[in-house]
Amino acid sequence: MVIAIDGPGGVGKSTVARRVAAAIGASYLNTGAYYRAATIAALDAGAPLDDPEAVTAAVAAAEYAFVGEHMLLDGRDVSERSRSPEVTGAVSIVSAIPGVRALMVACQRRWVAERGGRAVVEGRDIGTVVFPDAAVKVFLTASETERARRRAGDREAAGLDVGSIAEALRRRDHIDSTRETSPLTAADDAVTIDTTTYGAEAVIAIVLGLVDPA
Ligand code: DC
Repeated sequence: MVIAIDGPGGVGKSTVARRVAAAIGASYLNTGAYYRAATIAALDAGAPLDDPEAVTAAVAAAEYAFVGEHMLLDGRDVSERSRSPEVTGAVSIVSAIPGVRALMVACQRRWVAERGGRAVVEGRDIGTVVFPDAAVKVFLTASETERARRRAGDREAAGLDVGSIAEALRRRDHIDSTRETSPLTAADDAVTIDTTTYGAEAVIAIVLGLVDPA
């Protein structure tokens, strides 16, 4: 059983997905970590980001593993570097490339299959593309101001003011939502939850209420 949690940056997907997974004894997969690792692979290979073929070749040449919430790239833990401004600034460009997406989607499906198909998976295209048959699909939204405020509490945003966080989120959301391949969008059969005025506990309770206990 797959539970798909999609939505834009800063909406609280990781908190909700992690807690729902723990509550039902399922594995938790953060697919954004794959796109961030792919971005590091492209940057380290010196692939020009405006050359989709070069980026795809660099991404294909590396190995990816998501282990205990750590992202390994060719066996090296890149979790910390994944959240750096360098990577966050480039990830939307890399993840818009169709060849990159095909490679990452294959890795993500394999990861879930290796765990018996029982996982809570967060991302942008989980309910639409990666697991269109997911048992539960949730699309989280929140106002831009609230998302920037939540992001400001993340380690990734330490030292940045809320205004520049909001601007970076807006830029990334725009690219993620308008790309041709697998844009950020709610699946037709997703339950959309506007979390602007809800705390994490309330959202987790709503999602758990959607999960069939059997
Ligand atoms: O969830 P995150 O902020 O770590 O994701 C980083 C980027 O990866 C995000 O800007 C878009 C991309 N992404 C994607 O295209 N598809 C996914 N399923 C997950 C993330």
